[in-house]
This record gives sequence, C-alpha cells and structure tokens, in this order.
Amino acid sequence: MADTFEPRNIVVTGGCGFIGSNFVRWVAREHPEVHVTVLDKLTYAGNPANIAGLPADRVELVVGDICDAGLVDGLVAGADAVVHYAAESHNDNSIADPAPFVRTNVEGTFTLIEACRRYGVRYHHVSTDEVYGDLALDDPARFTEETPYRPSSPYSSTKAASDMLVRAWVRTYGLAATISNCSNNYGPYQHVEKFIPRQITNIIDGVRPRLYGDGLNVRDWIHTEDHSSAVWAILTRGRIGETYLIGADGERSNADVLRAILRCMGQPEDAFDRVRDRPGHDRRYAIDPTKLRRELGWEPKLTDFSRGLAATVAWYCENEDWWRPAKEATEARYRAQGQ
Ligand code: NAD
Ligand code: DAU
Repeated sequence: MADTFEPRNIVVTGGCGFIGSNFVRWVAREHPEVHVTVLDKLTYAGNPANIAGLPADRVELVVGDICDAGLVDGLVAGADAVVHYAAESHNDNSIADPAPFVRTNVEGTFTLIEACRRYGVRYHHVSTDEVYGDLALDDPARFTEETPYRPSSPYSSTKAASDMLVRAWVRTYGLAATISNCSNNYGPYQHVEKFIPRQITNIIDGVRPRLYGDGLNVRDWIHTEDHSSAVWAILTRGRIGETYLIGADGERSNADVLRAILRCMGQPEDAFDRVRDRPGHDRRYAIDPTKLRRELGWEPKLTDFSRGLAATVAWYCENEDWWRPAKEATEARYRAQGQ
C-alpha cells in the first residue's frame, strides 16, 4: 500500500455543487485538521447554502471560475492538494447546449492541472463511469479500470477528454495525480434537474413523474457519502498515476427506482408518464470496484438503497426552501425539450 499523504490545505473545486459540497461537509466532519478552500463559480447548479454553517476558520468560499488562470494559480500555489469536482454535470443540458461543457470540463481541467504542475501540487480528478459508454442489459460484464473509453454524450465526452489530459500530464510532466470514475450518486442537495430529485419534487407538486423511453435503462446507484469517503481514501492512500473506479453494487432500472419513490411517497406504482427518450441514451452502467476495495480497503457504508432513498425523500420534503427556487426554471427547460 502507498504511503499516506496528509494534506492540510486543500482546494475543492465545485464545492457548492451536489457531490463537492458533500465532500466538503465530510472533510469538515471527519478531518478537522484540514483547511478547505472551495473554488466555485456558483452557476445555476452551485449554491453556497450547501456549505453554510461550517466553521469559517476551516472552510472558505472563493467565488470564481476554474478557467481563470490567474485566480487558480494564486489558490493552487498555497495548497497541498486540489480535489476537482467542478463541472457542467447534466447530460440533458449538454445535448441542448454543449459549449459550456467543453469550456468548463476541458479547459477548466487544463487550467487546474497546469497550475498543479507549476507548483508541484497533488491533484485528484473526479470523473464518471460514463466515460466508458454503456453495457447491454444482458451483458454480465461491469466496467473496470481497463475498459476502453467510449463516451456517448457531449457531457461524457468532455469528461473523457479531461481524464485524458490528466493521464497525459502524469506521463509527460510527472503530475502527481489520481483519477476516480464513480457511478450515479444520490442523496441530499442534488439539483432538481437530476432523476431522483426531479421525481420526488414533482410528486410533492402533484405532477406525475416522467420516465424516459422504456425506463429499462440501468444506473448503478451509490450514496454520495460513500463517494466522499472513497475520494478521500484515493487522495490520501491511492497510487500516483492510477485510476480507481468507485461503485457500491447498486444496479437498478430507472423504472424500479421510480416505483420505489412512488411507493415511499404513498402513490400508486403506475402513477407516472413515459416521455421522449434522451437522444443517445446510455443503456446500462455497472462498476466493478474490486481495485479500490482490495488495494485501499475502502468499503461503502450506506448500501441499503431503500433506506437511503427514504431518507432522501424525507430531506426533499423537509427542505422545500432549498429546492423551490430552481424548480420552475428546470421544468420549463424540460418542457421545451418535450420531457
Ligand atoms: P453539480 O452540477 O451539482 O455541481 C457542479 C458545481 O461546479 C457547481 O457548484 C457549479 O457552480 C460548479 N461549477 C460549474 N462550472 C464551474 C466553473 N467554470 N468554475 C467553477 N465552478 C464551476 O455536479 P455534481 O453532480 O455534484 O458533480 C460533481 C462532479 O462529480 C462532476 O465532475 C461530475 O462529472 C462528477 N460525477 C458526478 C456524478 C453524479 O452522479 N452526479 C457521478 C460521478 C461523477
Ligand atoms: O453515471 C454517473 C453520471 O450520473 C454522472 O456523471 C452525471 O453527472 C450524473 O448527472 C448522472 O448521469 P445520468 O444521466 O445517469 O443521470 P440523470 O439523473 O440525468 O438520469 C438518470 C437516469 O434517469 C437516466 O437513465 C435518464 C433517466 N431520467 C432522467 C430524468 C431527469 C428519466 O427517466 N426521467 C427524468 O426526468
């Protein structure tokens, strides 16, 4: 096992988004010795409320763009490590307008790794299983670190491009980097554009949930807390230059997840509408997390999906103030797309 790296000052990009903010809260709770500087542009997906209330002497927010080389340089120069979550993250948006995805996901990553190279700073790159494309429903295979890249959407192709930049920077410049590719996250603070929060908040609003296509597409769900503990394990104990897949054996069809939400919210299981499918819609994602488990001894803790889903439903019921401001604009975008 590699030596333990003990960072004291980390920059977390995208720390006001869904997964980045979970990581910031997780670090503040589990590692009080660490100072976190969040760099976040506060796009429609970023919300400072996600990290509100954390100790001000340990968590600082800098509002800015990861493509701003001067700003990034100043922050990276004083850090031990950068953990890069910031991205345009939603597939449907990338189909409607790919431009911000190329800029933030590719150029933004380039800007960060150039700064890390200049200052010899450790870098962890947060990526997605979508870079591997999709699997057939009846294929016994799961993605591994050796699976060839075959991204399908503008979003996943920009994430794949950013992974490739990091790999090249490791090999050519000796950048001290690790990469993780995780499956679908769920939990509190997820934007209402994403599948699970969209359906929960539709039901709260008395609107029928919307299932794309035949609904048989499979996603491999992991609670965002487990993603955070895995990223920390890789940052502190992972081998430089290595890729680790993160997953928690959570394969489920969209139709099954939707029926579980409906049951949990006291609705009939068939109280949903089928809508236009997503163009290029990936059929199935599935992660084989053996390397991460064997090499770093990481284990997910929140693997009871029904329990995690019930807690997530409860969170959205109790935190309408948090999601309400984004709901109408999100649904207007979907209406325009026929979804
Ligand atoms: P999100 O959309 O909820 O949050 C993205 C954050 O990045 C927001 O706070 C936004 O303001 C910020 N941001 C966007 N552009 C920026 C820019 N140019 N400069 C600075 N900040 C900017 O995303 P998420 O779902 O939390 O995903 C976070 C990361 O995890 C992404 O890199 C995504 O590819 C990856 N990932 C997500 C999932 C998932 O299930 N959501 C799974 C695997 C990997
Ligand atoms: O696999 C990791 C990826 O998971 C991350 O890289 C992405 O950032 C994240 O957004 C997520 O991508 P998906 O496209 O899988 O997530 P989304 O929540 O958009 O959709 C999940 C599934 O649900 C997908 O098959 C499309 C379907 N769907 C989605 C919405 C919003 C519906 O059937 N109805 C909907 O209304």
